[in-house]
Amino acid sequence: MWRTILNVAFLAFLVHAVVLQARDQSGFISIDCGAPAMSNSTDWTDIQYVSDVGFIISSGVPKSVKSDFTTLFKQQQLWTLRNFPKGRRNCYKINNITMGSKYLIRLEFSYGNYDGLNTFPVFDVYLGVNKWDTVSFGAANSNPGGYSIREIIHIVSQEYINICLVNTGLGTPFISIIDLRPLKNDTYSAPPGGSLVTYYHVNLGYPYNNYSNRYEDDPYDRSWIYYIQQGEWVQLNNSSTITAGTFSQNDYQLPEAVMRTAITPANASDPLKINWRPQVTISDEYYIYMHFMEVNNQTREFNIFVDGKPFYENLVPPYLSTKTITVVSNAINISFHKTSRSTLPPIINAIEVYGLIQFYQSDTFQADGIC
Ligand SMILES: *[C@@H]1O[C@H](CO)[C@@H](O)[C@H](O)[C@H]1NC(C)=O
Ligand SMILES: *[C@@H]1O[C@H](CO)[C@@H](O)[C@H](O)[C@H]1NC(C)=O
Ligand SMILES: *[C@@H]1O[C@H](CO)[C@@H](O)[C@H](O)[C@H]1NC(C)=O
Ligand SMILES: *[C@@H]1O[C@H](CO)[C@@H](O)[C@H](O)[C@H]1NC(C)=O
Ligand SMILES: *[C@@H]1O[C@H](CO)[C@@H](O)[C@H](O)[C@H]1NC(C)=O
Ligand SMILES: *[C@@H]1O[C@H](CO)[C@@H](O)[C@H](O)[C@H]1NC(C)=O
Ligand SMILES: *[C@@H]1O[C@H](CO)[C@@H](O)[C@H](O)[C@H]1NC(C)=O
Ligand SMILES: *[C@@H]1O[C@H](CO)[C@@H](O)[C@H](O)[C@H]1NC(C)=O
Ligand SMILES: *[C@@H]1O[C@H](CO)[C@@H](O)[C@H](O)[C@H]1NC(C)=O
Repeated sequence: MWRTILNVAFLAFLVHAVVLQARDQSGFISIDCGAPAMSNSTDWTDIQYVSDVGFIISSGVPKSVKSDFTTLFKQQQLWTLRNFPKGRRNCYKINNITMGSKYLIRLEFSYGNYDGLNTFPVFDVYLGVNKWDTVSFGAANSNPGGYSIREIIHIVSQEYINICLVNTGLGTPFISIIDLRPLKNDTYSAPPGGSLVTYYHVNLGYPYNNYSNRYEDDPYDRSWIYYIQQGEWVQLNNSSTITAGTFSQNDYQLPEAVMRTAITPANASDPLKINWRPQVTISDEYYIYMHFMEVNNQTREFNIFVDGKPFYENLVPPYLSTKTITVVSNAINISFHKTSRSTLPPIINAIEVYGLIQFYQSDTFQADGIC
């Protein structure tokens, strides 16, 4: 589900691109694969991209998508890519990492019939020696041009990280964009040795104004989709009266535009329910991050049930400040019930869902040059 929703939403949002003022990008590593060595480009959010030439261990071949796809792939950095016709395993080595820090790592793949074969390849991506995922593109009618994205929250245990593409005999591996975004250490915690693979970052409610859905509205450059379950949820109104910059943030650093909007049950006397089953299963457990903020100067209180069992009692979303609650569960089946003393129905502003994967070796175990 996340792949489908995220891909579609991602492309849709690019149409509404807005360029915002530069903000601190310190620690961002943004690599435009296949771009000329001295290239210096920015994306629609003003993030500065560099060529991948300084990061490749084995050479690969720079390529470009066919020009018919440059309108579909709005982001200029998706127009070039690097493919690896030789060797089974080819790696990037990304330096300048602060050892032990937590990163959001995002890989993007835009095929765009670059090789004229009109056939999507299937290949594996690794972090160091550990397999992260298989990259595939599905059917051409649901994914014209062939776009795919993979994202993980991962603690890098050295000053560098290897990102590798592995040919599994189903076509030539390629890659278009590599992004690394540092996160605060105490966010998105996984058990030791575990990393969190993104299903989705969901802004519940409709987007507020001309929200770009990525950096710089989001200091961590997460990619937010928006969603309302028609008939069951409605948008909570009024938040437009809030003055920009008056929210107080926690370490999850949620975009104002995401937290301004919230959902509430269509029938105010019903519980609010979120019941999803992703199309692709990453692991048995979901790591679910729920973000709450009261946007009207009113008080509401509710209890949270996970899979029908009481999980959290008497939550009062704080006025203009974010409260994040984490749930680890083997189903995304959550309901919010107003307490008997609450006159207002429950709300939720945003939800993120990740799957846990365990890597069995240190991500940098592999010696250089074996690639
Ligand atoms: C890239 O462009 C930016 C903005 O035009 C400029 O500040 C920067 O010095 C350039 N970097 C290189 C390596 O050319
Ligand atoms: C790594 O950091 C050094 C020192 O800060 C800098 O000179 C160099 O350009 C950086 N390399 C990359 C690939 O960002
Ligand atoms: C995160 O944790 C690592 C390892 O404990 C530490 O080196 C790094 O300084 C921490 N970063 C922040 C921002 O606290
Ligand atoms: C949104 O963008 C449109 C077109 O650029 C502009 O006319 C409008 O004023 C913007 N709205 C806000 C609230 O910024
Ligand atoms: C908020 O406004 C929208 C559009 O006007 C409406 O459809 C929705 O029902 C409203 N929500 C509430 C909770 O009143
Ligand atoms: C809008 O805010 C006012 C004042 O806080 C409140 O009385 C009203 O119920 C709110 N409307 C909605 C739809 O939440
Ligand atoms: C809302 O739910 C209550 C309790 O289930 C029900 O009695 C009422 O008819 C519902 N209202 C609407 C408008 O559906
Ligand atoms: C919220 O409402 C309370 C009580 O009505 C009032 O004292 C307070 O000033 C209000 N806060 C804001 C920011 O409007
Ligand atoms: C969600 O949990 C409730 C309570 O246990 C259960 O009745 C319902 O069938 C569950 N829904 C799904 C889709 O599993």
